[in-house]
Amino acid sequence: MTQTVDLLITHASQLLTMENGLGLIEDGAVAVHQGKIAEVGTTSELEMRYTGQEHLNASGKTITPGLVDCHTHLLFAGSRESEFLSRLKGADYLRILQQGGGILSTVGQVRQASSEALIQHGIKWLDEFLAHGVTCVEIKSGYGLDYTNEKKMLEAIAAMRGLTNQHLVSTFLGAHAFPKEMKGEPEKQMDELVNRMLPDFRVLAEHCDLFLEQGAFSLEQAKVILERAQSLGYGLKMHTNQMTQLGGMGLAKKYQLLSVDHLEKMSEQDIDTLAESGAVAVLLPGASFFLREQWAPARKMIEKQIPVAIATDFNPGSSPCPNLHFIMNLAVHQLGMHPEEVWRAVTITAAKALDKSNEIGSLIPGKSADLVLWDMPNHLHPFYYFGKNFVERVWIAGRADSAIKG
Ligand code: NIG
Ligand code: FE
Repeated sequence: MTQTVDLLITHASQLLTMENGLGLIEDGAVAVHQGKIAEVGTTSELEMRYTGQEHLNASGKTITPGLVDCHTHLLFAGSRESEFLSRLKGADYLRILQQGGGILSTVGQVRQASSEALIQHGIKWLDEFLAHGVTCVEIKSGYGLDYTNEKKMLEAIAAMRGLTNQHLVSTFLGAHAFPKEMKGEPEKQMDELVNRMLPDFRVLAEHCDLFLEQGAFSLEQAKVILERAQSLGYGLKMHTNQMTQLGGMGLAKKYQLLSVDHLEKMSEQDIDTLAESGAVAVLLPGASFFLREQWAPARKMIEKQIPVAIATDFNPGSSPCPNLHFIMNLAVHQLGMHPEEVWRAVTITAAKALDKSNEIGSLIPGKSADLVLWDMPNHLHPFYYFGKNFVERVWIAGRADSAIKG
């Protein structure tokens, strides 16, 4: 007697479960029921036990978990081509910010944008992510910087949940930069952040992030924000060691951060402290590529057993790339990561960086049935025939899907 499940996929030339390394099963099969993974195994094993209401033969194709993009600034307005041109002629990213451009120029555009415009813009990009097999996307605020506009951004993320089936993880990044109106009054902005925004936005945001950098937030300010956010129950994240080393790894350890993100500029000591902290290293090679900055020392981190995730950092300033496959290629071809490490970096380890590894990121019974069917015989193809999108079909919680609902 076989058990009937909603969906049975069989004969995948490679099925990547991500349990222990790639968890690669040849001639693999997966049974899906009520939105969850019921079982994975070989085709012969599963065909003995299950019958699918829907049965798909994936012969010659590869199945992986849905990809997780654990660091994006997907919600923004406008773009910054003129700044890009200045940078090509030698202008510096942080100097542009100091002069009121960069992040602050996007803040100006987001403040002017209506919620509807932000949401429409966000959904358009989410659709692009879905086309690349990304079923879970973290989205940060951080282009509002005042109470009203940060709230507008976080509410837009909440509204987008009604328009896509992708899992959206919301992160409050009010401490992204000091807004122009608070120039010379950092204490006032800190007070707003710590005493108004952080407590009020906990219902809207799961995690809290900040930008520890020269011209953004100092080590002392970072401590105050992390302490408050921790006491309110946020998961903690930090943009750090991108351009300068201000002591971010000490904070990662002290406040048990979920992740530290960027990490292009890391000393040996930083790497050791990070290894002790237990935080996930989220590497963002799209920003190194686009800002022509140095590559994060991924190999050294992996040697020290640090869990490494990679993400697009999709944003209009430092990494305007909505294609996680391109970023996966940078990780292999520039950071020196092995394909196997990169697959984990965009699935189970990315889920860990979001505190979601119990629900998503690998194909084990009970987890959400987020699956990607790739029209390729093995998992090396995206790094070999780089530039081609092999994604054929995507399921989110067992539903074959496109981003726009209905
Ligand atoms: O992760 N480094 C700070 N924040 C973003 C860039 C934001 C922007 O330039 O608009 C990043 O690179
Ligand atoms: Fe970022």
